[in-house]
Amino acid sequence: MKAAEAVLRANDRDGYTVPAQGLYPFQWLWDSGFAALGWAVLDEERAWLELERLFLGQWESGFLPHIVFHQEDSGYFPGPEVWGVRRDPPTSGITQPPFLAPVVLHLVRRSSERGLERARWFYPHLLAFHRFLHRHRDPGGSGLVAVLHPWETGMDNSPAWDLPLKRVPRRPFALETRRDIQHVPQEERPRQEDYERYLYLVSLFRELGYDPDACFRESPFRVVDVGFNALLLFADEALGELAWLLGEDPAEPKGWFQKGVLALEALWDEEAGLYRSLDLHTGERIPRDTSAGFLPLLLPLSSSRVGRLVATFRAWAGEARYLFPSAHPLAPYFEPRRYWRGPVWAPINWLLAWGLIRHGFLEEAARLREDLIALVEGSGFCEYYHPLTGKGLGGRGFSWTAAIYLAWIGGQAAFPVGLGGPNL
Ligand code: GLC
Repeated sequence: MKAAEAVLRANDRDGYTVPAQGLYPFQWLWDSGFAALGWAVLDEERAWLELERLFLGQWESGFLPHIVFHQEDSGYFPGPEVWGVRRDPPTSGITQPPFLAPVVLHLVRRSSERGLERARWFYPHLLAFHRFLHRHRDPGGSGLVAVLHPWETGMDNSPAWDLPLKRVPRRPFALETRRDIQHVPQEERPRQEDYERYLYLVSLFRELGYDPDACFRESPFRVVDVGFNALLLFADEALGELAWLLGEDPAEPKGWFQKGVLALEALWDEEAGLYRSLDLHTGERIPRDTSAGFLPLLLPLSSSRVGRLVATFRAWAGEARYLFPSAHPLAPYFEPRRYWRGPVWAPINWLLAWGLIRHGFLEEAARLREDLIALVEGSGFCEYYHPLTGKGLGGRGFSWTAAIYLAWIGGQAAFPVGLGGPNL
């Protein structure tokens, strides 16, 4: 517990938490949601501050960027000069999984009256962000939103993006420009070819002035990511609950939630036994099985759907020493050392565990928790871990791993899953 606390304190930059020193020297959107869960165990006030700092980066449109560049640091690429977003503080121009409303609800439930007062400030800001996503990323009103860059999914180089990325041209740049491989061995990071495509998309959005509708229309990468959508709907549900607690009208979040949960069924793949993302350019589900396909467990699903999904979960669990691998452990694209192509990630264990708890699968949830604790106690607070050997990989002294560990070891309040039921 002390060691986890030391990681968060070392990564604290006066009110926000960097994911890791050196490798990620700014504030990242979904990382901060997880960091706040850890801070909540140590210092509730600091947890609220984490989220407030994040909203300093919110645009007038409601958009929340995936990075807020609070201070200068030449140790990260692509930095603010590449994004060219002229704001103070500067930000990136793409987003990340919208995992904040459940965190605010969690903080409210841990604290009392005072927490509700804090949440009052966040509510309109969160609502604006969700509105932005539902309007500008789902212009046809399908109920599901698109991501326009693999980084928006938070699972940067997932095998699920290999096929849609092929459509994206490469924007060649010198390998030495990359800073990540100065901190972490190259075979644990995305390939240079992928990076060149990531950079092409950044320059395209910049040329389009980050106009949300133009970016949606023009992007050669346009995917309905099952992970992003499951988290957005889970957050819509939490937002509805917050509205109700605050005496606001929950109709809008409730509408998104109900429509989205039904629409999500189009991503179900009966043969694979899990959900898959959809490539909007082809209209086809992407034939790749990743941990994102289990995240709909956070939502209300039919018992037959849950039964099949849990059977797939158990089949994967039988192939990995440590849960939960980020890609199917028997698939040809499984790479147990490379980033989102096989390794175990702490926040995914946390999210899947709460999804399983929602549906009553306590044993599986307990294994996710135990495995993560074993990984941390065996290898330290790493960015991710080898699912077969338990070796720590990527960055060290990593905030979200320390935060999840703290939340699991020292947390008193359960995470708010399935709360939408009676009120929504
Ligand atoms: C990587 C991860 C992303 C995370 C970021 C900072 O880009 O893929 O999910 O938010 O690092 O930790």
